[in-house]
Amino acid sequence: MRSILIAGNWKMNTHLKEARALGSGLAKIQVPQGMEVLLAPPFPYLYPVGEEIKGTSLLLAGQNMNPADEGAQTGEVSAGMLKDLGASHVILGHSECRARGESSELIGEKLAQALKHDLVPILCVGESLEERQADQTIQVIEDQLKLGLGDLTHAQGLDRVIIAYEPIWAIGTGQVASPQEAEEVARDIRAYLAKNYGQDLAEKIQILYGGSMKGENAYELLSQDNIDGGLIGGASLKLESFLEIIEEGEKLA
Ligand code: 13P
Repeated sequence: MRSILIAGNWKMNTHLKEARALGSGLAKIQVPQGMEVLLAPPFPYLYPVGEEIKGTSLLLAGQNMNPADEGAQTGEVSAGMLKDLGASHVILGHSECRARGESSELIGEKLAQALKHDLVPILCVGESLEERQADQTIQVIEDQLKLGLGDLTHAQGLDRVIIAYEPIWAIGTGQVASPQEAEEVARDIRAYLAKNYGQDLAEKIQILYGGSMKGENAYELLSQDNIDGGLIGGASLKLESFLEIIEEGEKLA
C-alpha cells in the first residue's frame, strides 16, 4: 500500500528565523504511521532547517537542482550538494520553474541526475487554464511525463519517482481542483505509467495533488483512490495550517 506523503514547498518564502521556527515546530510532532512528511525550504535554509529536524522522521527536499555534477554554473545547486545537506528528495519541473524557461527535456536530465545521486525526484506536471479549456490536459501531462521520465528503467530507480499533479490554474489562486477533477488526472497518470512501465510500477508510484490544498479541502482530495498525498505551497508556511493537512491525512493513513 502506498503511504500518504504531505510535502511543504516553501518556495521563496520565510526568513531564517521563521524557517527555523517552522522546522522546530514540526520536529515536535510524531509523524503518523503510514505517512511521510517532507519540507522543501529555500536552498539557504536547508542546513538550518535540517538541524532543527535532526533525529526526526521528517524528510528534507531541495526545490530544484542543476543536472550537472559540478562546474561553472553560477547560482546553481547540484544533487551532491543537496545530499550533503541531508535532502532525500528534490522537486523537479515545478510550473514556476517551467515558466522561467525550463524545458521538459532539461527536467528529464535533472530527473536522471537526481536518481543517479540517490535523491527521490518529485516530478511536477500540470496544465494551464487555456490548455484545460481546450481539452488538452491529458496530452500536456503525457508529454511532460514522457520527456520527464524518458527511457528510465527500474534499474535506474524509476520506481522511486513521485509524480505531483499541479494544475497551474490552482496554484496560489485559492481555486482548488475538485476532488473529481484531481482524481481524473491522477488516474490518467497512473494509466500512462501502467501502459509504459508496467502495472506493478504504476501501483507503486505515489501521485500527489498540489494547488490551493488546505485543511478544509485536504480530506476529500486525499481520499481519492489515486491521490497519495499533497504538495502544498501557501498552507505549508504556517505551522497550524500545515498540521491541519497532516491531521486530515492521518485519518486516511
Ligand atoms: P499553493 O498550495 O500555494 O497553491 O501552491 C501549490 C504548489 O505550487 C506547491 O508546489
